[in-house]
Amino acid sequence: MKLPRVLHTPEEVRFFERDLRRRGHRLALVPTMGFLHEGHVSLMREGAARCDVVAATIFVNPTQFGPTEDLARYPRDLEGDLQRCGGAGVSVVYAPTPAAVYPPGYQTSVNVEQVSQGLCGDRRPGHFRGVATVVTKLLSLFRPDVALFGEKDWQQLQVIKALAKDLELGVSIVGLPTVREPDGLAMSSRNAYLSAEDRVRALSLSRALRAMQAAASDGQADVAALVDLGQQVLAEAQVRLDYLEVRHADSLAPLVTLSPGQTSRALVAGFLGTTRLIDNVPLTLKGS
Ligand code: PAJ
Repeated sequence: MKLPRVLHTPEEVRFFERDLRRRGHRLALVPTMGFLHEGHVSLMREGAARCDVVAATIFVNPTQFGPTEDLARYPRDLEGDLQRCGGAGVSVVYAPTPAAVYPPGYQTSVNVEQVSQGLCGDRRPGHFRGVATVVTKLLSLFRPDVALFGEKDWQQLQVIKALAKDLELGVSIVGLPTVREPDGLAMSSRNAYLSAEDRVRALSLSRALRAMQAAASDGQADVAALVDLGQQVLAEAQVRLDYLEVRHADSLAPLVTLSPGQTSRALVAGFLGTTRLIDNVPLTLKGS
């Protein structure tokens, strides 16, 4: 296994990207904040299947963290990450410092108006502006043919699809299914924060979503009843709920009833101690 080449500055990336174009290679990009797990690896492998060259970015982006959030303690392991990247077919990793991404005088941001609202957008003010800004910068710098993101962060995926389309970035945004631990917990770098006890309670997030999914496929179309069901599962595990909602999968418009043929999504965020985790699943009404 060959370790990826590490780039630190936008200039180095521009040089790499120009060279790649001259050779006529297709590029896949996988943006991450590091502390990589199998969810990230699945994106890299799919990138390698679709393109000649895969680049990943590892950058804990300060602008997407609120003042009381976990920026300072976000887990980091660059050496381990480079090993994982190499094993997943990534040949170049961009790992800039915050000053390389946001030099003194930096003042531009990208705001995606509609799908940034509600859900995590309401609970984490400014979060999606930070995400949209850094992802726009990375896509503009690398100019990849394909960029891959996880469905685990469903609202984020919709924000990124919207900005790529609206800003005509000419990149195909690919969303891939959530990779889970064998017991159902969605993989997340933040799972590293969980105590043994909270790790068990965290399972109730995916359990609540699965209960809602099962009820919908049994014919329950009433969103309030579905949410009630999920809330019971979470209450039993004493998870402090941030939100549990059912929304249209693409527009993220709130729904009152599920209808046949409509794509909808149940989305949850909850706190285990001070650790905030999110998860989501598709809902399909019986017969649709
Ligand atoms: P991060 O949380 O590191 O996630 C990087 C990518 O991996 C995202 O597209 C995310 O949806 C995906 N991912 C995370 N957990 C996953 C899982 N269990 N299964 C499949 N994919 C998973 O999301 C971010 O970083 C940042 O917001 C970023 C987009 C890099 C902008 O800073």
